[in-house]
Amino acid sequence: MTHKDLLHILTSEDASTLFRRAEDTLLANRGRHVFIRGLIEFSSICRRNCRYCGLRAQNSNARRYLLKSEQILKAAANAKALGADSIVLQSGEGACDAGWLAELVREISQSLKVAVTLSVGECPPAHYRLWRCNGASRYLLKHETSDPDLYAALHPGYTLNQRISCLRTLAELGYEVGSGFMIGLPGQTMDSIANDILLCKDLNVAMAGVGPFIPHAQTPLKDCATGSAELTLRVISALRLVLPKANLPATTALATLDPTNGHISGLQAGANVLMPNFTPAEFAGSYRIYDNKNRLDMASAALAVEACNRTHSCSLN
Ligand code: 5AD
Ligand code: SF4
Repeated sequence: MTHKDLLHILTSEDASTLFRRAEDTLLANRGRHVFIRGLIEFSSICRRNCRYCGLRAQNSNARRYLLKSEQILKAAANAKALGADSIVLQSGEGACDAGWLAELVREISQSLKVAVTLSVGECPPAHYRLWRCNGASRYLLKHETSDPDLYAALHPGYTLNQRISCLRTLAELGYEVGSGFMIGLPGQTMDSIANDILLCKDLNVAMAGVGPFIPHAQTPLKDCATGSAELTLRVISALRLVLPKANLPATTALATLDPTNGHISGLQAGANVLMPNFTPAEFAGSYRIYDNKNRLDMASAALAVEACNRTHSCSLN
């Protein structure tokens, strides 16, 4: 698929035709099963200052927490018991000690016999290696935008090249790698969104998470416009056509814009992953990367899957 083909998909193709084409591609390549990832946001601490994110270090209003190992283990066991296929441990960057995290990963993967995905940002290769040796098999690190100038403007002190180099290191270490990006970032063009899709293809990612940009009131981008849900759905479909076997989540950000139908429309556009949230309730409200963040629970995940005539592993008794 060329850049020009992608622009056509993003701007002109009839939306329902596109979504059907993407869902048919999904069913032919991966079948009807929707994978359920149990998301645990184990720390809201972050050293970075991404201009779009409510957890940026300079936001002194954000409440910072780091869950204890026991709390995380309990949340992971609960997710597994309710039918999660894997556990995603997510935090801001530089939130915890690498050795402590390695121990936790080992414990979860061994005791629960479940795949562990990490999403803890850009770290030294030695840490990536340590976690890999202790049982982490997947890593999510979104490239956020493939436009190098926009990347630099949104991430003070960091470059797109560093980001891509981390993604390549993770792949070399044997991780299944996930990337992703936001839709509707201020200054983002349709051209650069087409490049985002091509970059995911070029990196041959196993997973790609795409969500609309949603402004957070305590960030420099607070007055910027929210990204388009429809364009996000078109991007999910385009990714499905370009990477037929990839795992593509219907993201929480999508459901934040459309709480009743967001996850369903993501699945119908070619997504095959849902990420219900297992962060203990008393902390989940503090993991505010953007405003009015939706929280998907297992029961709603199951309902969304069933509404799309797909199958899932949730056990809701
Ligand atoms: N709107 C939408 N998504 C956001 N993220 C961070 N801030 C925002 C925002 N304001 C996403 C980024 C990041 C993930 C943790 O959350 O893509 O990778
Ligand atoms: Fe930190 Fe991630 Fe938010 Fe950036 S997007 S400020 S790395 S939590």
